[in-house]
This record gives sequence, structure tokens and C-alpha cells, in this order.
Amino acid sequence: MAVELKNGIYWVGAIDWSIRDFHGYETPRGTSYNNYLIMDEQVTLVDTVKHSFVSDMVRNIKRLVDPAKIKNVIVNHIENDHATSLGAIMQLAPDANVYITEKGKKGIARFFDISKWNINVVKTGDTLNIGSRNLAFLETPMLHWPDSMMTYIPEDKLLISQDGFGQHIASAERFDDEYIHAHSQAELDDAIADYYANILMPFGQIIKSKLAEVRKLGLDIEMIAPDHGVIWRKFPQKIVQDYLDMADGKADLSVAIIYDTMWQGTEMMTVPLMQGIIDEGVGCRVVKLRANARSIAVKEFWKARGALIGTPTLNNLMFPTVASLLTYLRGLKPKNRIVGAFGSYGWGGGGVKSVYEELGKMAVEVYEPGIEAHYRPDLDDETKAYEYGRDFAKKVKEYHGQF
Ligand code: FEO
Repeated sequence: MAVELKNGIYWVGAIDWSIRDFHGYETPRGTSYNNYLIMDEQVTLVDTVKHSFVSDMVRNIKRLVDPAKIKNVIVNHIENDHATSLGAIMQLAPDANVYITEKGKKGIARFFDISKWNINVVKTGDTLNIGSRNLAFLETPMLHWPDSMMTYIPEDKLLISQDGFGQHIASAERFDDEYIHAHSQAELDDAIADYYANILMPFGQIIKSKLAEVRKLGLDIEMIAPDHGVIWRKFPQKIVQDYLDMADGKADLSVAIIYDTMWQGTEMMTVPLMQGIIDEGVGCRVVKLRANARSIAVKEFWKARGALIGTPTLNNLMFPTVASLLTYLRGLKPKNRIVGAFGSYGWGGGGVKSVYEELGKMAVEVYEPGIEAHYRPDLDDETKAYEYGRDFAKKVKEYHGQF
């Protein structure tokens, strides 16, 4: 069902209750594909939805208007979850004008035959009058794709922000205050951190400069409508501040212990490490990779100022799940985090060493040396692990990154 967010502006998207694997990123809450229909003199659609939800979107539009009457289609972002039903919309409204960035145009040409489409390339500062409104376009390259842009509607003080400020949440609630009322602020904050960590972590500097540009342009923003999750009608300033904080790398005074294990030797080290950390007054979350997706581990990594990566040794290297995590993490270009390693080995060792080799390729503060136990920790090893946890927690308390 369409939902009105401003007078004459409607959410016409789809809710994906069942998705748990979003291109390899675990989405335990599902997601939504938000797009928006503006009922003005020129009916204008902003973004579309994932191809498998095209009928949901079309039904929502039909409740408001014959889709053939759509005059303009704004394509803020061409990733598959937003643009793969563009072809279906253009079949229903073949004379519609498409507004898209230069890179977006090149991109969608790889998905659709656009030779007969009325394509208008736009850039920051360009506007489109659709009757009583003047849509303004703001390019946001690498937030988070090269083609990305946002659409601002000054008459409604509304920013349609594509992926920016989104969360992977499937819910009955379309608005931030409704979601907090039905669930909790903590649940929403967790979804924000999860999304930022897994999608936007590499782009902190770009986020800061783009938000500074928005401030300079003096855009009066009363509502932010992203392409996933809740619409920020009550707390738009909070999500902007959250993004500024995350772009600065701010994190909780806590440690994420992220590990896997073969015969529980490495696992047995987690408890004294954890105890040492919390005895120093620092929070601690423990994530076993065998039981959690990489994206969950990355979320916990991102929320904590420090991390300890635990691995058994397998064939002189780290365990494959740990390697997978670190490869993923390296691509996310983490900064402002302090990271150490621990683990167990049976023969010649090498697991912890290979973790440090991978950490050395990242811009994190590496805490060395790590701590290892032969086969499985004895009581002496447990005491050493406890002390290691305490020492690491002390370092985390002193560590302030480049905030
Ligand atoms: Fe939600 Fe970058 O797509």
C-alpha cells in the first residue's frame, strides 16, 4: 500500500521480509526497497525497486495514478536493488523523461536498451520543475557507487537520499518514530551501525565532505527519505549526526573478540581475555565466526574501539573463516581501531602470524605481539590470556585514533 510522507508524495516501494543474504551480507531483519511517487502537475517517480518486487511497486502506483501518466523518472542510483525494474516502468511509461547522472547513464546502458528512452543527464545544481515543485539534484559519487546522487525537494524540505541514511529493515513501520515506538531506539541504532559498517565504512571522508557541502548549500532538511528502511521524519538531525560521528570513526569504549576455533583451544582463550577486558571497565562482545555471518562480525568490529581476532592454525595459516573476515574487512578500509590477535596451534604455528600479516595491510593500529597457546590453554595460559585482556583494554582506553 502506498504511504503518504508529505502532501502528495508517497512511498510506493516494497518490503522484502525474507531476504537474509544481500549480496553476501547477512540481513537478519530483511530490508525494504523504498521509492517515491510525487503527484504534481508532472507525475514523477523517484527510483524503482528490485526486479522481483516490480509488481508490488506497480500496484502501489496504480492506487494513485495510471503508470502511463508518469512524466519523469529520477534514477538516483543504479544498483540492482533499485534500478532493475526501471525497464518495466519504461514499458508502462515509454515517453517518460529519465533524469540520471552521466555515470548512471553509462551504467544502466549495461542493463537495458536505452536507445529509445528520453534520457537527461543531470549534475549537482541542476533542477527540474514538475509543477509546484523544483527538484534539485546533488551528485554523491562513491556514496556509495560512482553514479549515485540524491534528490532534494525544497518546497517539502525533503531529501530523497538513495542508500544514504538507510538501514536494512523490513517492518510494518515506514517512519523512524513509529519504528522506535514499536521496537526500540537500540534496535534502530544497531541497524544503522550494521548498514554503515558493511556499506559505507570506506567512505567516511566523502561523507564528511558531502555533508559539509549540503550545509554550505544551506539546504533546509525536514525529512530524509532513504531507499532502505525507515524514513526520517522525526529525527533527521540525529541520523545526520550519527553519520558525522561514524565518519569520524567514533566507537564505543569496548572490545570485539572475533574468533573461530577447531578443537576449542582458541575458543577457551576467549573467556579469560573477555574477563580481563571487562575487569578493566571496558565493554566486550564475543563473536564466533562459525555461528555468525561476516557482516555481523564487521558490525561488532565497527561498534567497538578495539578488536581481538582469534584463530587456530590450519596448515600454517589462519583458519579460513578468519581469512574470509579479514579479506572482507580490508576492503572496507577500517581506520581508528586498535586490533590484536590470539590463537592456538598444534604443530609449527603460523595462524596468528598470518592474522598480523593481514592486519598490517590495513590502516588500523596493530597491537603486538599476539598471544598463543599450544594445543589448548592450561591454567598458566589462561592467566596470561587474562593479563593480555587487561593490558589490551588499558591500551583501548588510552587509544583515541584520529577522532
Ligand atoms: Fe541499495 Fe547501493 O543499493
